[in-house]
Amino acid sequence: MKSSYISVIDMVFVDNYIFNKDVYIQFNSTVGEYVGYTAHGVYNADLWNKDTNILQQERAEVDRYCKHNAELYQSILISPVKLSSVTQAGGRHPAVLMCSAYRFYPHGIKVSWMRDGAVVKTDVTSTEEMPNGDWYYQIHSHLEYTPKSGEKISCAVDHAGLTKPIIIDWDPSLPESE
Ligand SMILES: *[C@@H]1O[C@H](CO)[C@@H](O)[C@H](O)[C@H]1NC(C)=O
Repeated sequence: MKSSYISVIDMVFVDNYIFNKDVYIQFNSTVGEYVGYTAHGVYNADLWNKDTNILQQERAEVDRYCKHNAELYQSILISPVKLSSVTQAGGRHPAVLMCSAYRFYPHGIKVSWMRDGAVVKTDVTSTEEMPNGDWYYQIHSHLEYTPKSGEKISCAVDHAGLTKPIIIDWDPSLPESE
């Protein structure tokens, strides 16, 4: 029997060959070759380790299988996040940015703003986490501000589906930015 195990955090690909619940050969991507644990396992691991085709295929599995699927699973929980400018009449500040997460599950998201590295608390408003009607939620957070030349404004989104927050920097040269 052949089984696979992925760890998304550190991306290790492990390919176990099991008989009667005991692993007799293992390929571990950190090790990079087969290791045998019984006489029969050691015999075959040595044979396979001499076959560059087999080894190359196993060594490619971290990217082909683990990384590929980790990205898919992550985008199922949250995507996309967009940062855009909004025109507004009669606000206290001349400019408004909107940071939107359109599709995330479950609810429980944190959207925050940074201006030149410092967290902005004032002049921030947010919608509720609104159900899209298909299990997913969306949210839109607004920052009202007076633009300064050379400043850096970023939106940070954190969610259980992310290993680290998504941070998007505002690019004032674009009318709309992703
Ligand atoms: C894979 O190999 C590394 C390095 O020897 C080890 O730290 C890790 O625990 C192994 N993973 C598994 C699931 O055996």
